[in-house]
Amino acid sequence: MSDLLAVILAAGKGTRMKSALPKVLHRVGGKSMVEHVLDAAKGAGSSRNIVVIGFGAEKVQEALGSNAEFVIQAEQLGTGHAVQQTESLLQDFNGTVMVLCGDTPLLEGKMLAKLYAEHKAQNAVATVLTAIMPNPAGYGRVIRDAKGQVVKIVEQKDATPAELAVDEVNTGIYCFERSVLFEALSGINCSNNQGEYYLTDVIGILAAKKAKVWATAAEQYEQTFGINSRAQLADAEKILRKRKLGELMDNGVTIMDIDSTFIDEGVEIAPDTTIYPFTWLEGSTTIGSGCEIGPNTRLQNAKVGDNVTLHFTYAHDCEIKNDVTVGPYVHLRPKTVLSEGVKVGNFVEVKNSIVGQNSKIPHLSYIGDTDMGGKVNIGSGTITVNYDGKNKHRTVIEDGAFIGCNTNLVAPVTVGCGAYVGAGSTITKDVPGEALGVARARQTNIDGWVKKHKA
Ligand code: UD1
Ligand code: CA
Repeated sequence: MSDLLAVILAAGKGTRMKSALPKVLHRVGGKSMVEHVLDAAKGAGSSRNIVVIGFGAEKVQEALGSNAEFVIQAEQLGTGHAVQQTESLLQDFNGTVMVLCGDTPLLEGKMLAKLYAEHKAQNAVATVLTAIMPNPAGYGRVIRDAKGQVVKIVEQKDATPAELAVDEVNTGIYCFERSVLFEALSGINCSNNQGEYYLTDVIGILAAKKAKVWATAAEQYEQTFGINSRAQLADAEKILRKRKLGELMDNGVTIMDIDSTFIDEGVEIAPDTTIYPFTWLEGSTTIGSGCEIGPNTRLQNAKVGDNVTLHFTYAHDCEIKNDVTVGPYVHLRPKTVLSEGVKVGNFVEVKNSIVGQNSKIPHLSYIGDTDMGGKVNIGSGTITVNYDGKNKHRTVIEDGAFIGCNTNLVAPVTVGCGAYVGAGSTITKDVPGEALGVARARQTNIDGWVKKHKA
């Protein structure tokens, strides 16, 4: 177990988001803001992660589940008060407490690890991550003495004109030794312009005691940007998306148009796959090598093998194995497995079905709740009739079967190995292997019918 743990402040409402959802649960780059922060903390080596919740507490707790511990701050009386709520939970802890905010989704573990390393190397009891901002408005200012030692942090609303001129700001990211944190917190009060208990006052209290307080400016302070509005959320989305696409390209993936490609952080793609424009890859999607994905394709939690082509396809919670061709205009719904060499589409929907190797469903079909063997040929317009109004039933189509065009297969029903079904049939009884099933009225031609009716 490492000597580092994280406390993530996430009790605020986020008024400027104008949302019923707690601010930290707004999604960006495919996951909630607070999940990004949690992942960065873990990436920095934090062994325990405690999230302070208040507004919409149940929702935040539900979203993070067992990935974090939770402390309730019933009333949001300030950032110092928020950290105070973790005191009893941290009684037996003797290491470093890293304090983070839940609304900074651009943070990366590497930068936090560097902060922690510097905190340890300096042997400080408190280290503040600062940033030199061209426009520091709104932030707390870091006040240093003539020797450059940190004296205190002053909030914008409490600052003198001279303090407002300081361009080094508090990013809201800190390391504190647990041994001094709560004692110092017990010394803060709310006699300031906002009537809040400020965490930032801890810095002044420790500095006044001549304890070692350190402040270090972040090289990549863009990572510390807090999100307060929908416009900033959209900015963060752009940054995260670009970061992900950059990583993929570095790993050998071709992205044809970075402005119209949307890939969640958790998606994995092997080298020599090409992503065409207007493509969304979401959730836990993984894609092998040598694939052509898009244009106009959306994959959610899809597992895609090597050398797969997906054009104009929407696929979710399904598996597509090697050498499969799909599209255009195909919907693959949950629990669908397309085995090696399968071809699906145009205009086909497949749901909760296994499609065996090298089978073809080339045009205008609905295949639902079906177990299909290998080398099956499904004629254009074939429908599995899987729902009787009350229950779903399965259709079985064995290896090598040939289903004629415009067939209804009324489930539960089995078409045996190598069997044929005549075009236009509505099949309600099993077709034995190697048999021909035909179920349609015979055609009659009435000679001279037109002439008779025109007379
Ligand atoms: C804080 C810092 C400021 C710094 C800025 C960086 C203080 C007093 N000021 O200001 O120096 O420049 O962050 O972004 O700390 N929260 C709670 N409970 C509360 C209050 C806040 O959990 O009672 C959470 C919020 O949900 C948010 C975070 O703490 O995630 C920061 O609070 P916020 O009110 O936004 O602080 P700032 O005014 O931005
Ligand atoms: Ca803020």
